[in-house]
Amino acid sequence: MGVPPSPAPPVGRAAAAWGLASGAVDDFFDVVHRQRACRSFGTDPVDDADVERVLDAATFAPSAENRQPWVFVVVRDERRRAEIGALTRRAWEEGGRAHSEGRLAPGLLAEVDAGARGGVSSAPVLVVVGGDTRLGDARVLEASIFPCVQNLLLAATALGLGSSLTTLPLVFGRELAAAVGLPDEVRAMAVVPLGWPARPLSPPRRQPLADKAHREVYGAGWPPA
Ligand SMILES: Cc1cc2nc3c(=O)[nH]c(=O)nc-3n(C[C@H](O)[C@H](O)[C@H](O)COP(=O)(O)O)c2cc1C
Repeated sequence: MGVPPSPAPPVGRAAAAWGLASGAVDDFFDVVHRQRACRSFGTDPVDDADVERVLDAATFAPSAENRQPWVFVVVRDERRRAEIGALTRRAWEEGGRAHSEGRLAPGLLAEVDAGARGGVSSAPVLVVVGGDTRLGDARVLEASIFPCVQNLLLAATALGLGSSLTTLPLVFGRELAAAVGLPDEVRAMAVVPLGWPARPLSPPRRQPLADKAHREVYGAGWPPA
């Protein structure tokens, strides 16, 4: 049996309309059950203090040999965001969409489509997450970066900020690196938008734990303890 998600709280401007200070979420398990991709943002600014809290949480992730190879470039500049947005749109229109059509459920396809065509880059902040290849073994670079990205996403959710893990712009990794001045040794690995959600997000859709877990040996299923 899965744990039923708590109803999504109003967020951003919607939270304000409900008379709440913010869409912040306190309980860790509520944060986990509410974290999901946001691809449509309002225009309200995101304070540097909030960006810093989110990035600080990201840096508390585990990494191979504790080498902490993460690099964050926080992009607020409108032209630079548009440049990254154009790479995302190009990656989608020149192959991403064709690859995803028929693979994604229509609702998700429509969300990714709107995100790739400008929703994601409309966020007031884009965080380009890089992995420094000088810090540790290349074979575990990705495994050392994505825990930090997950911390980043959870911290954003805890503050009521919308975010999403995007990789589409990596199709044009060299252009993305050039847009934010990454040296050759730092590989761009994700772009995470941060902003106040344009509308409240519905709860994430996930398959039940019983479909994924096994007691002792694979295939035993997850009968009640
Ligand atoms: C490795 C990875 C790459 C992803 N790349 C993109 C992307 O380029 N664009 C996008 O809109 N979402 C991207 N996503 C977000 C997924 O679509 C999303 O996590 C998934 O559909 C679950 O949806 P939810 O977060 O709304 O519950 C990516 C997620 C992962 C883990």
